[in-house]
Amino acid sequence: MDQDRNGEQAGYHRPVLVDEVVELMAPVVPGVVVDATFGGGGHTRRMLDEFGDEVTVIAIDRDPEAVATATGLPVTVVQGNYGHLAEIISSQGSPEVSGVLFDFGVSSHQLDEADRGFSYRQEGPLDMRMGPDAEIDASVIVNEWPVGELTRVIREFGEEPLARRIAQAIVASRPIDSTATLSTVIAQAMPAARRRAGHPARRTFQAIRIAVNDELRSVDAGINQALDLVRPGGRVIAISYHSLEDRIVKRAFAERSAGCTCPPDLPVCGCGNTAQVRVLTRRPIRASSAEIEDNNRARSAALRAVEKVA
Ligand SMILES: C[S@@+](CC[C@H](N)C(=O)[O-])C[C@H]1O[C@@H](n2cnc3c(N)ncnc32)[C@H](O)[C@@H]1O
Repeated sequence: MDQDRNGEQAGYHRPVLVDEVVELMAPVVPGVVVDATFGGGGHTRRMLDEFGDEVTVIAIDRDPEAVATATGLPVTVVQGNYGHLAEIISSQGSPEVSGVLFDFGVSSHQLDEADRGFSYRQEGPLDMRMGPDAEIDASVIVNEWPVGELTRVIREFGEEPLARRIAQAIVASRPIDSTATLSTVIAQAMPAARRRAGHPARRTFQAIRIAVNDELRSVDAGINQALDLVRPGGRVIAISYHSLEDRIVKRAFAERSAGCTCPPDLPVCGCGNTAQVRVLTRRPIRASSAEIEDNNRARSAALRAVEKVA
């Protein structure tokens, strides 16, 4: 595949906030950087271009199709779930880790391949598994889960106000055998006003995808293991695409950056807590309007970064 200066693999995925990632990673080089969400390797390729031999990349992705795009690159590739980051790094001989990058969510390739079942715009199977390690596919949730559980998932993971109504429509239409049918069932459950405001199935598809891949549990585990793993002075960078991911990152960074939690009137610290990290991004970094114009996916990206303190 061809690659442009932003590290884009032609037709696979266009990475976001690449300059910002390279700039934030520069101070930890030379060292080992873990790209925990390799995808088409856009961020990794750009780091290799910028840092050359000074950076050693361990690339992780749970999707075998993403792992295959690393062929020929001077990186160590591991097919696995970043929710098991500590185990993966230990399987690589426990090198000292200087930086970890997370670029959450799905790649454009996963969305564009109708056969993967992620797209509400195309006809495909109800799959949505990012990798073979996912325990269920979307069909199980759509066709087997009780209405209450379906409602909870659509409300919590899709932040969809019409969750109950959509869940009831799905249950009433079973069996549903394709993404296109599911998309139509959801659209028909919506009042006309909602059908005009963005694609009516977007939030529900996001919710089912998050549940299939148990995404939020992995985000929480991955971020916390990365914060434990990086060396003093090392950095953890996370790019989120919706508030559920960003909330987990923000909370983990805030907890680890909090020092003493004793009441201010206590003369001597009794809790013994000290800050483990320094937050480098008081507010999340957003893509410039030029990048958003060029790559619509950058619109919702929010980057946060921390540095481990000694
Ligand atoms: C937004 S894409 C990353 C794109 C990449 N930064 C690039 O420049 O091409 C997210 C990738 O993370 C992978 N992924 C999502 N959740 C994962 C997990 N828990 N463990 C490992 N990989 C995961 C997906 O399979 C997908 O390839």
